[in-house]
Amino acid sequence: MTDLHPDIERIIISEEDIQRRVAEMAAEIDRDYKDAGQVVLIGILKGAFIFTADLSRKMNVPHSVDFMSISSYGDTAKSVGAVRLILDLRKPITDRHVIVVEDIVDTGHTMNYLHQTLLGRNPASLKTCTLFKKTRDSLDVPLDYVGFDLPDVWVVGYGLDYADTHRTLPYIAELKKEVYS
Ligand code: IMP
Ligand code: MG
Repeated sequence: MTDLHPDIERIIISEEDIQRRVAEMAAEIDRDYKDAGQVVLIGILKGAFIFTADLSRKMNVPHSVDFMSISSYGDTAKSVGAVRLILDLRKPITDRHVIVVEDIVDTGHTMNYLHQTLLGRNPASLKTCTLFKKTRDSLDVPLDYVGFDLPDVWVVGYGLDYADTHRTLPYIAELKKEVYS
């Protein structure tokens, strides 16, 4: 094992486990959409760019990929629940079968905002997909595809960042508490 970055406490999910789970999720989506025709995957930048790319390449149903960028106010671990749209889709989604692809759902504010916003554009259907979910008692938004449940710690890697660092780690790692608190 190579040395971990000094900010990292431990690896929570290995690269192999992530890749295996992403393949399972792609197979599940393939089953659910086999007669749907064209699907649109909407990857949420920046965190979900790697997951979206891997999921898309493992899916067999015909689909296109588009992106939106969303930001919570505040930079790092101290999200306050206000969400703003930084970059919108290139194409309308009216009458399309849409799957929103997120990296991680914590409070659910971001996914809830996305769900409301996209529903308002009258897609043929709308489902939510997230690779990671932190343990919460209740969420306002339905999650249709969830990869892994995670403990309530700050994680980085596989697209997820801390202040824009550590995104390219191939695994999911827990950041040391003193780094983010
Ligand atoms: P929510 O709105 O509280 O559900 O937060 C979701 C967003 O916060 C995600 O799209 C991530 O960008 C970010 N986020 C939440 N927890 C983490 C984490 O542990 N590591 C990296 N980003 C996170
Ligand atoms: Mg995000």
